[in-house]
Amino acid sequence: MATHAGVRIVGLSGGSDASAVASQAVLGDVPWTPTAPSTFAAATLIVIGVPDDALDEAASELARSDYDAHCAAVHLSGIRGRDALAPLADVAVATGAFHPLRSFPTRDPGEGDLDGALVAIEAEASLASSLGELAQLLGGRPFAIDPSARAAYHLGASVASNTLLAVLDLARAAFEAAGVPADLATPGLVSLMSGTLDNAASRGVADAVTGPVARGDVATLRRHLDALDTQLPEHRTLYMALVRGLLAVCERRSDADRAAVVRAWIEEVEA
Ligand SMILES: NC(=O)c1ccc[n+]([C@@H]2O[C@H](COP(=O)([O-])OP(=O)(O)OC[C@H]3O[C@@H](n4cnc5c(N)ncnc54)[C@H](OP(=O)(O)O)[C@@H]3O)[C@@H](O)[C@H]2O)c1
Repeated sequence: MATHAGVRIVGLSGGSDASAVASQAVLGDVPWTPTAPSTFAAATLIVIGVPDDALDEAASELARSDYDAHCAAVHLSGIRGRDALAPLADVAVATGAFHPLRSFPTRDPGEGDLDGALVAIEAEASLASSLGELAQLLGGRPFAIDPSARAAYHLGASVASNTLLAVLDLARAAFEAAGVPADLATPGLVSLMSGTLDNAASRGVADAVTGPVARGDVATLRRHLDALDTQLPEHRTLYMALVRGLLAVCERRSDADRAAVVRAWIEEVEA
């Protein structure tokens, strides 16, 4: 029986054979069944990790099983609330949503599990503190999320994690156009971005900004646009949107007057 971070993992179900093998490679010796068990033993926590659109179907299927006392179920979605598990609540299973604020491109979370990641928890009262303890066992930092706040919460999470890669891709395309060797470009840019994010974490976002927008250096911004127009025209719209966003950040700084000239330049360029 596999145990991870002090939690006993009693079984896996659903998905394809290939997914089961891939999950077992990470979790170890955990029995798998293609469909949900017909009975769940007392005090089992079911973790539903399916695409958000498959949640309703999974909850309905699981609601057809029999449950001993004090069983609970959570899903891992950031955008769906606890109400996605209503069919399970209807059969007296305690329900919750447990969203780890971390990106997992593969099944293996790596050494650190949730190390320092926020975990947004929405759960009925009887379950909330146990889920908080579980998040902490995995190294996460639990906090309670209100169902009405989910869309804004998920927007923030998605911008920080997913759209960040669109920014990286624009930078990578620019480095490619500049002839920076491909094997250096992405690692070099990621190192630059990591340093910037570290500065934002320690100093706050506005005081971490450097570069031509903060300095009001319009001549440099013009050269950027020239490069975009001649070499990367498909990235111009995104670049201008990013400059506008960064200007709004710089306008919160004590030296906001330096950036004021950039607003006039944007209006001139976009007239
Ligand atoms: N990935 C992340 O970074 C991340 C981070 C935080 C939270 N989450 C949340 O975690 C959940 C799963 O996301 P994911 O990225 O792991 O999704 P995923 O890779 O697309 O799918 C996860 C598994 O769900 C199985 N599956 C698909 N439809 C199913 C169904 N109807 N019944 C049973 N199993 C089904 C798939 O099996 P087969 O492929 O074998 O069909 C697959 O193994 C989502 O709610 C997501 O919001 C994900």
